[in-house]
Amino acid sequence: MKITILGTGNVGSALGKGWIVAGHSVLFGARNSASPKAQKIQDLLPDVRIQSVEDAVKGAEVLVITTPPEVVLDLIPSLGDLSGKIIIDATNSVRTRPGPYPTAFHAIKALAPSAEVVKCFNTTGFENLADPVYQGTGIDMFAAGNSLVAKQAASKLARDLGFETCYDFGGDDKVELLEKLALSWINLALMQGLGRNIAFKLVKR
Ligand SMILES: NC(=O)c1ccc[n+]([C@@H]2O[C@H](COP(=O)([O-])OP(=O)(O)OC[C@H]3O[C@@H](n4cnc5c(N)ncnc54)[C@H](OP(=O)(O)O)[C@@H]3O)[C@@H](O)[C@H]2O)c1
Repeated sequence: MKITILGTGNVGSALGKGWIVAGHSVLFGARNSASPKAQKIQDLLPDVRIQSVEDAVKGAEVLVITTPPEVVLDLIPSLGDLSGKIIIDATNSVRTRPGPYPTAFHAIKALAPSAEVVKCFNTTGFENLADPVYQGTGIDMFAAGNSLVAKQAASKLARDLGFETCYDFGGDDKVELLEKLALSWINLALMQGLGRNIAFKLVKR
């Protein structure tokens, strides 16, 4: 897939590296390609191109939002026609919120109504996005939103990173619940002191 990642931080870097290894075509869009974070990615992935956000979005099939959530309020309207593009929202409205919307997903849906939007890659730490394998088995990912095409793309991209299964978490009405799952991971990892090397795995019998 032709993937453009908007944001060159912890999450963007982990996802981009994994998808390049899996054979995808990955570009980064940055507001400043000389920023320390962008430079860190360029050092990590010397062949990857980091462009202006506008240029990076042009040929993309999949856009992945890995910025603070409120950034989408200005970002999405600046990108022109996003009809049919798959947009994966990996943000969590933990420290900041894209008011008046409860999450970046809701803002993107309102600002780009013809795009195919899904919430995914938000429920675990960036270390787990970079390496989702524990004791030889992939941990699980979850995706929420009404767009089946976006959910299928996110699921394939999750498995390409090494997640064992990307579970369908439900439609648009489950997006806020999926952010609460992310908050649950943050609670266990950081507030309850279990550390960032923990992950969610669904078991069945
Ligand atoms: N950290 C985690 O473990 C984790 C896990 C899952 C989801 N998330 C969510 O993922 C998102 C990113 O987290 P992160 O830890 O990767 O953050 P981060 O390391 O701080 O990176 C954020 C990136 O967003 C970019 N950015 C900020 N404002 C921008 C704008 N107006 N236009 C374009 N780019 C902009 C920053 O660019 P500059 O370099 O120019 O500042 C930076 O590259 C957050 O919403 C977070 O809640 C985080």
